[in-house]
Amino acid sequence: MLKPKKKKEKRIKLSKESIQKAKRIFTYMRPYRGIFAIGWVFLVLSSLIGLLFPLLLGQLLGGDSGGESSMSGLFEKMNINNVNKFALALFIIFALQSVFSFFRVVLFTNVTENTLRDIRKDAFSRLIYMPMDFFNQNKVGELTSRIASDITQIQSTLQTTIAEFFRQFVIIIGGVAFLAFISFKLAMIMLATLPVIIVIAIVFGKFIKKLSKNAQDEAAKSNVVIEESLMGISNVKSFTNEQFMLSKYKKIVQSIRNLQVKSGLWRGVFISFVIFTMFSAIVFIIWQGLLMTQGPNPELARGDFFSFVMFTVMMGASFGSLPDMYANIQKAIGATENLMNIIETDSEKETHTGTKKPTITGKVAFSSVSFSYPQREDVPVLKNIQFDVEENQTIALVGSSGAGKSTIASLLLNYYPITDGEILFNGENVKNIDTNHLRSHIAIVPQEVILFAGTIKENILFGNTDASNEEVQTAAEKANALEFINSFPDGMETEVGDRGIQLSGGQKQRVAIARAILKDPKILILDEATSALDSESERLVQEALNTLMQGRTSFVIAHRLSTIKNADRIFVLEKGEIIETGKHDELIAKKGVYSNLVSLQGVEA
Ligand SMILES: Nc1ncnc2c1ncn2[C@@H]1O[C@H](COP(=O)(O)OP(=O)(O)OP(=O)(O)O)[C@@H](O)[C@H]1O
Ligand SMILES: [Mg+2]
Repeated sequence: MLKPKKKKEKRIKLSKESIQKAKRIFTYMRPYRGIFAIGWVFLVLSSLIGLLFPLLLGQLLGGDSGGESSMSGLFEKMNINNVNKFALALFIIFALQSVFSFFRVVLFTNVTENTLRDIRKDAFSRLIYMPMDFFNQNKVGELTSRIASDITQIQSTLQTTIAEFFRQFVIIIGGVAFLAFISFKLAMIMLATLPVIIVIAIVFGKFIKKLSKNAQDEAAKSNVVIEESLMGISNVKSFTNEQFMLSKYKKIVQSIRNLQVKSGLWRGVFISFVIFTMFSAIVFIIWQGLLMTQGPNPELARGDFFSFVMFTVMMGASFGSLPDMYANIQKAIGATENLMNIIETDSEKETHTGTKKPTITGKVAFSSVSFSYPQREDVPVLKNIQFDVEENQTIALVGSSGAGKSTIASLLLNYYPITDGEILFNGENVKNIDTNHLRSHIAIVPQEVILFAGTIKENILFGNTDASNEEVQTAAEKANALEFINSFPDGMETEVGDRGIQLSGGQKQRVAIARAILKDPKILILDEATSALDSESERLVQEALNTLMQGRTSFVIAHRLSTIKNADRIFVLEKGEIIETGKHDELIAKKGVYSNLVSLQGVEA
């Protein structure tokens, strides 16, 4: 799921590697191994006690009649020798059983939830530190849906399936031992049916697992459609593409249904086959057993025979439930593998190993920088970019769409490793600089401002979470945002985003500017919105930007001449190369690409 190309190969060569990965879940359980161990004690106790049930019930039903029970010696020692006492013993067994089960459930839940909490925390802290490239390659909707379903799968397996699996296992082993004790011949007959069922379970299990994994993939895709539609709901509506998205969704949902029905069909075949084989075996064994109780001198006592029947039926039920549990455990292994793949993908903590913390003053140099995006390595996006920027300069980046302007901004933030050349901050190669340190000195006001759900104040505080109320207030004022903020009844405490008020484009930009002011960075990147604001908002935003640009190095990806004219230098980019450099007047005089661009914009100049 991480790298589309490798996906297919991975699915084929599963088992060993995935089990290795799944084992890492034990690393997460280790801190709780004490509780887990006690839980296991209760599980073992309740499983063993479960074995006494068919034994005693058989003897109770068999009563005193029908020959000497092979168990009679044992029961006499325990002073259980009449019907009343058998009934009482059974009663005590159930009482104990319920107490043990209580502790088992409580303790297992404890371990499971602790473990899952740690995995969740780890997965998110991994995700949030993933390099940008990861997010280019993975759809957010697919990631979130996958993680949620993986966690649920692991939860049910750790909490109940493992315990159930073990209990059935004990019943089967105990049952075989008991049968062997009563009648070696019968036990052998029973064991002979085992290999057939096991082989079938493994073959079918693999096949069904593959089907259900395909269905899961489709389910994740369907979530992507929902998420993308809802996030871009105004796009969907404005283009009246509801039907289009709906039909896209219908197609996926249909394919989920088909895959599930197909897997249901095979599960049905499997289960009916198992039922038939198993009950034939049970009938055969009971019949054989019954024959042994016949005659004046029976091989088998009545009580033993009933215990024997109870055991056989219970074991049958245990066998019947094994394939489902096995499938569940397999699913959990797959789910764990998925999660571990995420947790083990190199995050920026591993890929950005620089540790130096030079003073960042806004002096930046690109030295023969070439770059292509990791997933399209053959397409050069930046070619041999060369420039030196001094402190407090304002640099305008202009050029046609796709020229590489935003890419330069991403490289300043060290989102991607460069292919060739060096990027230097105050003479230090970006590779050697601690990424957190670097980014703490850079602020970006993006083209599309995204506000988090929360109050306006919280959104401004995002620039510096330690800032005081006064600082927030001042930042908002400098950003020309205070006036509109105060016009809301709740002021700074106004909720924005999903459940609150929606801000206009210009207002959002000013919140983002306030955020950047609060951060007080040495280097500022403005990816100017191409969308035109009305002249009043434009003036307010421009004023705020001018304030913001003072006293720091600013890279302005500019579409508006007003911003460009005042720049210390303008870089004109075309197809990843800087083709002209200079001040506005110089470039106009040159009558090159820039003057062309300007005359195209004509009106604004
Ligand atoms: N995440 C990405 N993965 C792969 N290629 C990308 C990615 N982002 C941008 N590109 C490619 O890199 C080139 C430069 O893109 P960039 O976003 O830097 O252009 P830009 O100059 O900012 O354009 P605009 O003015 O339209 O914003 C484009 O050809 C684009 O297709
Ligand atoms: Mg851009």
